[in-house]
Amino acid sequence: MALSSAIPRRAFLGSAAAAVAAVPLAAGVRRAAGAGPRTFTLTAAPATVKLVGGEWPATDAWAYNGTVPGPELRVRQGDTIRVDVRNGLGEPTTVHWHGIRLPNAMDGVPDLTQKPILPGEDFTYEFEAVDAGSFWYHPHVNSAEQQGRGLAGPLIVEEREPIAVDRDVTWVIDDWLLRETAQIDDSFGHRGQMSHGGRIGNTVTVNGRVPEAFRVRAGERIRLRLINVANARTFAIDFGVLKPRVIALDGQPVAPHEPPDGYVVLAAAQRADLVIDMDGRPGDAVQLTDSYYRGRAYAFLTVQYDDDPPLRESPLDAPVALPANPLPAPVVDDQAQRERIVLEGGAMGRFPEGAERFFEQNQFWFVNGLPDKGRTTPLIDIAKGRTCVIEMVNRTSWEHPMHLHGFAFRVVRRNGAPNMRGEWLDTVLVRAQETVEIAFVADNPGDWLFHCHILEHMAAGMSGIVRVA
Ligand code: C2O
Ligand code: CU
Repeated sequence: MALSSAIPRRAFLGSAAAAVAAVPLAAGVRRAAGAGPRTFTLTAAPATVKLVGGEWPATDAWAYNGTVPGPELRVRQGDTIRVDVRNGLGEPTTVHWHGIRLPNAMDGVPDLTQKPILPGEDFTYEFEAVDAGSFWYHPHVNSAEQQGRGLAGPLIVEEREPIAVDRDVTWVIDDWLLRETAQIDDSFGHRGQMSHGGRIGNTVTVNGRVPEAFRVRAGERIRLRLINVANARTFAIDFGVLKPRVIALDGQPVAPHEPPDGYVVLAAAQRADLVIDMDGRPGDAVQLTDSYYRGRAYAFLTVQYDDDPPLRESPLDAPVALPANPLPAPVVDDQAQRERIVLEGGAMGRFPEGAERFFEQNQFWFVNGLPDKGRTTPLIDIAKGRTCVIEMVNRTSWEHPMHLHGFAFRVVRRNGAPNMRGEWLDTVLVRAQETVEIAFVADNPGDWLFHCHILEHMAAGMSGIVRVA
């Protein structure tokens, strides 16, 4: 059997796909209340993993602690987290704590917030989990390749008083470009990927395996934490007859609501927390599909009810709304600092004057006229404590999940219209030709990266610095 270049009907055409396994829990040090930091070790190194299952060979990957995804780091809001990172790769690395609000020196950006961790060396990160929510970690050196080879893992911060559910489940969703041998295609840095939609794969995994069945029990309430760690792929997951309620986006609580149009859309790096009451009957099966890309829908996985009698006859009667995190609310008035960011370039795009001189360095994306490698000063300077409103104008033919390090921001307008939900995000999908306005309080000093989370776009210039001082 050959791997087709389009994504096969089942996420990979293996015959014996696996049940969705849990992400391994890292053995955090058990501690008494009020004791010191929660301590973890992450070693980044080559590993062989069973991504596809069945007859397919194992895949040579890069992994944290030998597993893909890396271990789930799970702490409680208010805990101090300490992570000793060891570099067992043949090249430098760092770890970025995506979505976590932390001191700049812990942000994991090479040559901006720290020196890269060289092969054989280590670095200790330590920060407080100020916000509860679903976050994740990944390298920030040679990101397209290091993350594309498997380096990513979940970081879950539990609320001090979590909502009542029967199970709290994490799905780390990834997208791989594999060859027919189930090995990772090594076309990283390919110019076509960089100038188009990024590295879109042919194999989708949930918690490191091509999924088939996710087993549930009738009547149970599940909190499902979805984390998209793909380099580039956006997902639009249709839960069929299930009725998920969205309770958090990018880790930040949102008023519980059914997903608009029935799809949970997750761009690269985004998260969604859902509550689902499994209201089917024992033995039922529900097919979930992903239909984000037109004409390329595929079966994502099957939710399979087991035969046990229902856990309860009517849904759990308990609130699902999450307590707010301690985020400073931006006040969008004429005191606010207003900035504009114009995105240009890419295939079928318009380019700023003089753009060609950067093509040789594989810089195809431009922010306010310059690619990352052509810029010598911050994109934006903000006085500490001020509300900042950034209008992002996408003049390209492609969508861009734009990520700001160090802050959660509120999405205030899309194409000029007020965004009624006002959700907090750290990564916002700006569609082709769309304009999105975000606002946040610049309360945390430092040089923070602001970039497209399609990793091939970031590498090809769509990145800059927001300086708060
Ligand atoms: Cu997940 Cu620079 O980000
Ligand atoms: Cu992009």
